[in-house]
Amino acid sequence: MAVRNFLSTFAAKSCSMYTRKLVNEQISYYMETTLVLLKPSCVQRQLIGEIVHRFERRGLRIAGMKMMQLDEAILRDHYAHLVDRPFFPALAASMMASPIVAMAISGVEAVQVVRAMTGFTNGRAADPGTIRGDYAMSNQQNIVHASDSVENAAIELARFFRPEEIFDYRSGVQDYLYAPNEC
Ligand code: TYD
Repeated sequence: MAVRNFLSTFAAKSCSMYTRKLVNEQISYYMETTLVLLKPSCVQRQLIGEIVHRFERRGLRIAGMKMMQLDEAILRDHYAHLVDRPFFPALAASMMASPIVAMAISGVEAVQVVRAMTGFTNGRAADPGTIRGDYAMSNQQNIVHASDSVENAAIELARFFRPEEIFDYRSGVQDYLYAPNEC
């Protein structure tokens, strides 16, 4: 148990790319932490509480949260894969239009769980029941950003949070969220 706790803590902090491990013939799952940004489209539409509530209701744990004003430098880093696309200036402007809320969200396999909750990039194509499918009509004003892989989650968390701003605490309802071999 102590070993598992250590591994969970380590994985949550480092966002280890190994999310499952065979321990005593049973699959053991590692906690992950992922980055979510509540974009200006979320903040301006006063949906912060509603979106945070969705993550909490799912059983995910808020490990860090703060409001920030983004600038072009951080956006050029964050959207490095898109800086050469024609829509980048409009994207950057939309992300600087007001403060955003940065969140670190933890849970077993949190990266893919949060990404699935987010839905397709274009709100018009996103499935109902996903955040974008329920709150967005746009390809750009699409409410949230969520890390798309465990590796990127580690990079993106380090971009938006200092280590001491991410809290590794045990949820009081953990035993009712996961089976013993899942966390
Ligand atoms: P991307 O990383 O492709 O999608 P996701 O946010 O689903 O991981 O794109 C990043 C953001 O860039 C996206 O949330 C909105 C914006 N964007 C546009 O404004 N126009 C576009 O055509 C695309 C593909 C993205």
